[in-house]
Amino acid sequence: MTLSTTKESTTVNYLKDYRVPTYFIDEVDLVFDLHETHTTVTSLLRVRHNQLSHDPEKTLTLNGEELILESIKLNGKSLAAHQYQIDKNTLTISAMPDHAELEIVTQIFPQKNTALMGLYVSNQTYCTQCEAEGFRRITYFLDQPDVLAKYTTTIIADEKKYPILLSNGNLVDAGKLAQGRHWVKWKDPFKKPSYLFALVAGDFDLVRDQFKTISGRMIDLRIYVEKGTGDQAHYAIQAVKEAMRWDEKNYGREYDLDIYMIVAIGDFTMGAMENKGLNIFNTKYILAKPENATDEDYMNIASVIAHEYFHNWTGNRVTCRDWFQLSLKEGLTIFRDQSFSEDLFSKSVMRIRDVIDLRETQFPEDAGPLAHSVQPDSYIEINNFYTATIYNKGAEVLRMLKTLLGESVFRRGMDLYFARFDGQAVTIDDYIECMHEVSGIDLKQFKRWYTQAGTPTVTVVGEYHEAQQTYTLTFTQTCLATPNQLEKLPFLIPARIGLLDKEGHEILSEAVLHLKEASQVFTFKNITSVPLPSLFRGFSAPIKLNYHYTDEELFLLAKHDSDAFNRYEAIQCYLLNKLQSAKTDSAGVTALFQYLLQHETQDDFLLAEFLTVPSESYIGEQMAVIDVDGIHAKREGLMKSIAETLQDLFLEKYKQLHAATLQYEFNREAVAKRQLKNKCLSYLLLSPNNMALGKTQFLAALGQNMTDTLPALMGIVNQENAFREEALVIFYDFCKDDALMLDKWFAIQAACKLPDTLQTVKKLMAHPQFDLKNPNKVYALIGTFCHRNRVNFHVKSGEGYRFLREVVEKLDKLNPQVAARMLKPLTTWKRYDKERQALMREQLTILAKQKCSPDLYELITKSV
Ligand code: TRP
Ligand code: ZN
Repeated sequence: MTLSTTKESTTVNYLKDYRVPTYFIDEVDLVFDLHETHTTVTSLLRVRHNQLSHDPEKTLTLNGEELILESIKLNGKSLAAHQYQIDKNTLTISAMPDHAELEIVTQIFPQKNTALMGLYVSNQTYCTQCEAEGFRRITYFLDQPDVLAKYTTTIIADEKKYPILLSNGNLVDAGKLAQGRHWVKWKDPFKKPSYLFALVAGDFDLVRDQFKTISGRMIDLRIYVEKGTGDQAHYAIQAVKEAMRWDEKNYGREYDLDIYMIVAIGDFTMGAMENKGLNIFNTKYILAKPENATDEDYMNIASVIAHEYFHNWTGNRVTCRDWFQLSLKEGLTIFRDQSFSEDLFSKSVMRIRDVIDLRETQFPEDAGPLAHSVQPDSYIEINNFYTATIYNKGAEVLRMLKTLLGESVFRRGMDLYFARFDGQAVTIDDYIECMHEVSGIDLKQFKRWYTQAGTPTVTVVGEYHEAQQTYTLTFTQTCLATPNQLEKLPFLIPARIGLLDKEGHEILSEAVLHLKEASQVFTFKNITSVPLPSLFRGFSAPIKLNYHYTDEELFLLAKHDSDAFNRYEAIQCYLLNKLQSAKTDSAGVTALFQYLLQHETQDDFLLAEFLTVPSESYIGEQMAVIDVDGIHAKREGLMKSIAETLQDLFLEKYKQLHAATLQYEFNREAVAKRQLKNKCLSYLLLSPNNMALGKTQFLAALGQNMTDTLPALMGIVNQENAFREEALVIFYDFCKDDALMLDKWFAIQAACKLPDTLQTVKKLMAHPQFDLKNPNKVYALIGTFCHRNRVNFHVKSGEGYRFLREVVEKLDKLNPQVAARMLKPLTTWKRYDKERQALMREQLTILAKQKCSPDLYELITKSV
């Protein structure tokens, strides 16, 4: 018996080192024997030598971590100790035949698994997480995505405790055993990489439905949730059907198995996982009812469900050759789920929110020590590369490609991609080649978006020549150096633009300019008066725009641009200018907001976005040195004066919308009304005089409607007032038996702007219902405080930094992936003033001296 130890190796993996596998595994037959102390995994592998591999050695090296090897047989014969070799993370067999059957028996300990990778137990339920490299914690295997196999899985367990046993594919057999045990056998007819393997065992409520596909097949839809929560899975299963319909309509993709299952799990590192036919979800993205979920929760559920469903084609049927190609599936699938949400909820608001998200998460990443390209060329720990760059920037790159090619050509490229590569593990280059073939457009330069990190800045200058009746736009692009990439070549940037006249009428309704050179001039003819350019409509490229608009011009765009995103952008730009000027004069802002409140009557949802002041992080992004306290004070000051000046207007709107939204319903129109209503309320609650309003809404909505409860409570909690403590107690009493609502209770306190919040957070860590092993709790309390509550996390004393370092030390021993996620804000130390820089670095240096996971090691070494 040999115990392989935890992964400590810190080797760097390079894309340039990619080699085709020496061996393939075509078939996998797994038997899981689940016991309370351990699980025995018997794995029968059909192994085949790869003719195309250039490795002359007939050596098979399998991955394995934290496994106890019980036995190993080659073609039915036990291997003697000298016939194989076990290292920390590998099992090597030399002198392998070209074709072989390998039987490997290992023991694993799911009950002790706190890393939530491989097979683990969450709340009496066994479940797996194999992406990216979790399968090697289940059994020895070629755990890389270019090894595609057909899986058969038998699960044996106690029938009373684990009546439901699930794996990928179709249920093919089942039976009973002695001592109250039972077994089932699942067979997945589709070849897949090991990261898509899944197993679940437990007892659940089951919500079922059916979907009739475009070709008339009936799909059995099943969502398994914790006992007692079945009433909260109805929205999720509707969303599955919406997603299936959407993918048929927009991409011609039909679901392939006869059954589609989702299991919701309380302990889950990420949002959800697209395992073939058996998605595993964080409960957060399944469970919802009006009294515990907000409109945002509902919208997020639909988008994550769509995301995982869409992976069935973009990720599963066509998968990644290696993890450097991660954005091939993630960027593409995010792009698809964003488009789905735009169609389902609101084209303009979803676009605005996705751009906000990109700017708040990806832009800082691109500007910091962890910057990497959408197709990275190296990594230490792949878990660290599930980033905003791979996901969100990857999605932006595809949106640009669609803009360059046009809708129908892009669709033909997608069709070709699916047809050509179905059942294969491919690369980003393979994908781009399809797009090149259908369009005839040379995409060599465009591919720099995949290989060069950093956010380009595009400076635009406009010039009107009255005599010639022409207008020229000069575009100049630059991109700052990023780690290991000092020089950048020009990107191919699609600039979707329009031109407006002085009255706001369109002179040029829309054009897509292809920027290719470092500097490029475009001339527009027959322009009879000075035009106003509307640039990068719909955020047509993930760049920072530099164009000097006057306040009047921004007002004109805010009021008249036909592109809703650019109206929003003009407002943001105007607000940013005001927030950056030495003395913030709020008169112009209130005049603009007043105009919008009185005239923007078509779209309440969009209006709510328009009335949003840029976040502290976005304001900070614009500064050479982030002035944490200055930004906070200015922003709060501006919002207070908007609230005071427009108090009557906000109140009027509030009352009118409140009367129209008494009964909670989740649909586009109702969401729009509630969003605007609660935007008005949030301004009203900046004044202590309106506390009664907040209290009334809070008490009335609690137990009925979380969308109204939360903003009211937030307004109350964010200032000293007589009702504050009581409100938190009332909320706690209501939510104490609901894990997801408790997360909101933790988060709301961690987000509080009052100065003693760090003490509160420390106290809450000792709360009996806080659990460092549960990622949702960590994200709610630690994540909210350290990543979102800037003024308090960055207190001058450095206490916040020390707190985070201590938490990360503890977390690293339980779940390195979560520890690394939490550490992120400390890695951006260079963006702050000298005192804070020193304090942040000090904590990183303390961590650097300790033994830690490769996850942390990579972040620390890259950032100090
Ligand atoms: N592929 C998953 C997605 O839909 C990502 C994911 C889920 C993941 N769980 C994970 C990645 C655990 C790494 C580790 O985006
Ligand atoms: Zn994904």
